[in-house]
Amino acid sequence: MQKFATFLLFLAVWTSGHGQDTPFLNGTFPPGFLWGVATSSYQIEGGWDQDGKGPNVWDTWTHDSTCSNVQDCSNGDVACDSYNRIMQDIAILKEMNVDFYRFSIAWSRIIPNGGIDEPVNPAGIRYYRHLINALLGNGIKPFVTMFHWDTPQAIEDAGGWPTEATAQAFARYARVLYAELGDLVKDWITFNEPWVICVLGYGTGVNAPGRTEMAETVYQCGHTIIKAHGLAYRIYETEFKDQQQGQVGITLNTDWNEPDVDDAEHRDASDRGLRFSFGWFAHPLYFGEYPPIMRELVDQKSINEGRNSSRLPSFDLLWTEIINGTLDFIGLNTYTTQLVRPVNGDGNPGLFGDSNVAGRQDPAWESSAASWLKVVPWGLNKLVRWIYAEYNQPPIYVTENGFADPQNATVNDPRRVNYYQQYINELMKATLDGVDVKAYTAWSLMDNMEWSAGYTQRFGIHHVNFSDPSLTRVPKMSAICLTQIFSDNGFPNGPPCNIN
Ligand code: GAL
Repeated sequence: MQKFATFLLFLAVWTSGHGQDTPFLNGTFPPGFLWGVATSSYQIEGGWDQDGKGPNVWDTWTHDSTCSNVQDCSNGDVACDSYNRIMQDIAILKEMNVDFYRFSIAWSRIIPNGGIDEPVNPAGIRYYRHLINALLGNGIKPFVTMFHWDTPQAIEDAGGWPTEATAQAFARYARVLYAELGDLVKDWITFNEPWVICVLGYGTGVNAPGRTEMAETVYQCGHTIIKAHGLAYRIYETEFKDQQQGQVGITLNTDWNEPDVDDAEHRDASDRGLRFSFGWFAHPLYFGEYPPIMRELVDQKSINEGRNSSRLPSFDLLWTEIINGTLDFIGLNTYTTQLVRPVNGDGNPGLFGDSNVAGRQDPAWESSAASWLKVVPWGLNKLVRWIYAEYNQPPIYVTENGFADPQNATVNDPRRVNYYQQYINELMKATLDGVDVKAYTAWSLMDNMEWSAGYTQRFGIHHVNFSDPSLTRVPKMSAICLTQIFSDNGFPNGPPCNIN
């Protein structure tokens, strides 16, 4: 019966039309559906050297004296100053009546030099306990990401994510978090977007630490992160779960891959593209090995390139056992869609060419202040169906989704309102067809430091005036609209917000 339902869902992915919007659906999400908003430590905290925090790769990257790494030559030294403004953040969360707040912990506040024998910083623990207690006191569940890109600099100096020892250092950090905060936190995300950590950090060099070693290092980075996740999951399972009764998952990112032409080759390209992005991490954590198509293509290309071994590493039996079946839930970050087609590599060894898939975006799609982010609501509907069918019906948490306005934007944000109404409605259609989505998370609670784009893009549902020292958080139209959607658990009476 279950298999049949999976088959039907799978079929529905392909028969629900080639990239069209279907009419807005009035209705609500299943009872118990959870609503929240997200941020990350480096993007909002500031306090970059306060109370014993160690430097991380983003501190180093943004303090580079040539100013060539960040678009507006800015940094996260102050950002939204959340390190010193916990109560301001709690106030806006409470105003929105969210079920949970997804935030991340800065590893280098907890263990300033990151390493396995390095001392724990009590002030770091105190800060997060204070934040978590304040959330719980206001009826808000903490949904905690252990790592959202801010690698302690000392860990990077010792080789960073491409080095296996980093998995052990992360595992120890995870153990410290469970021991110090696990009485209060029941929902843990080990990593935010390993794809971005590895590809942008070690491949294209757009993000810290800015290495450009696409061919092999990117895969080694992914390999360590998968091991680190596996270790962190097993530590929870064996040492903490009985007592703390929580869950551990990961957050992966991908765009939906829509076949550019509706034929078998393009549908294959869509599957292949998703397996090389989402599947790169999801497949090993669910099944103990890389997606077979990834194994086959990278192995073959490595031979063709005259190498002695594959650029894609393998897990030995012990590691396979450690990583296999280590997701209590799967987190999904998604913003947009690609139209994909089959190609024969791209002439360069590395993840992009290895997949034999190329993508483009339809020029007719509505754009945003981020060049990569086009508004394609039905992509979310198709993507969660694909994930549900591909990984044997796991519980899915949408852990990020949102829209970028330019720097000079105000609290009047009709295009973001439209984005949220349409995307959440498409998600609802999938849940009503039986896809087990448990939660939706808007990115982001407030405007913040958008990595290498600095403060030139605003993803917040609260406006922050960064030139005003009080950094007041002011609700945008989208915060008010989302509050309505959250309290209605969907759209019982159509779209609640008028954007005309
Ligand atoms: C995600 C990332 C967030 C945020 C968002 C908008 O990839 O996890 O930190 O920056 O993109 O670009």
